[in-house]
Amino acid sequence: MLFKNSHLLSVTQLNLENIQTLFSLALQMENFISYRHHKPLLKGAVLANLFFEPSTRTRLSFGSAFNRLGGAVQTLTDAQTSSLSKGESLEDTIRVISGYADVIVIRHPMVGAVAEAAKISRVPVINAGDGAGEHPSQALLDLYTIFKHRQRDLNNINHLKISIIGDLKYSRTAHSLAKLLNLFDKIEFTFVSPEALQFPEEISQTLQKRGHVVRNTTDLAEGMKHCDVLYMARIQEERFPSAIEAAQYKGFYSINRQLFEAHCHPGTIIMHALPRDSREGWQEIHQDLDDLKNLVIFDQTDNGIPVRMALFALILDADLQLLQ
Ligand code: CP
Repeated sequence: MLFKNSHLLSVTQLNLENIQTLFSLALQMENFISYRHHKPLLKGAVLANLFFEPSTRTRLSFGSAFNRLGGAVQTLTDAQTSSLSKGESLEDTIRVISGYADVIVIRHPMVGAVAEAAKISRVPVINAGDGAGEHPSQALLDLYTIFKHRQRDLNNINHLKISIIGDLKYSRTAHSLAKLLNLFDKIEFTFVSPEALQFPEEISQTLQKRGHVVRNTTDLAEGMKHCDVLYMARIQEERFPSAIEAAQYKGFYSINRQLFEAHCHPGTIIMHALPRDSREGWQEIHQDLDDLKNLVIFDQTDNGIPVRMALFALILDADLQLLQ
């Protein structure tokens, strides 16, 4: 992928050179997050942030990253308050908004809807989550978090042992992260899920064809053993046909300090794209893990800013000389 003027719809567009370019720039961007040291690379540019599904992190961190680089953000968070509620098509909406903005970030409940919008748009479109499909910028910040834990060297991600646990059928963050890790060598994936919520077979086959190890199990303890990264995925209640069906999986996999100390090695890091479900009985990550340094879920959210700053700077072909 050439970043300049490109859409980012799936992590499968990326190669290792792209990742190296992006992460090198994200590391530089970490110096310019504070308003005291900001670099207005995108002064005058406008981002349209269109979220047709709920979000806290993705919407605000895309917005904040753009603001940190001096750009302005326009937001649409609800189809009901836009002219979509008057029967306007998504196509016409995008046609119009691509005349108002330099880049568009879209979250939509339907798989493929963001790619359809990109076909219409006159400016680059970034997929911020399309149903149970993909969430590429989340996978990038997840990988960046792993990269920083492995001496900031992409070579150290080869041979990673990762267990991805929970609702693997609907978790777009798990789908994108696994596809992104497919770029590396000899990754050991352990997918832990209830039988009915298994990781998509098509993605598993792609991983196996590239020589990665793929195991499927329903056994949480087995998944927790021998992994470098424990990646928890929330039960995606909003994707189930009904709340009653989702409730069958309430608390199905829940990790706490006692389980972590019993099964994981001391270097294992615990990740989650968030939001984690904090309702009584649902918690996939218990709060008694919160003061453990192995829990890096809030490092992930922090890392969303430099990664998204770098992404915007590359896609909008900002003058990187200004970082000097
Ligand atoms: N990780 C993530 O996509 O979070 P939000 O749904 O809050 O944006």
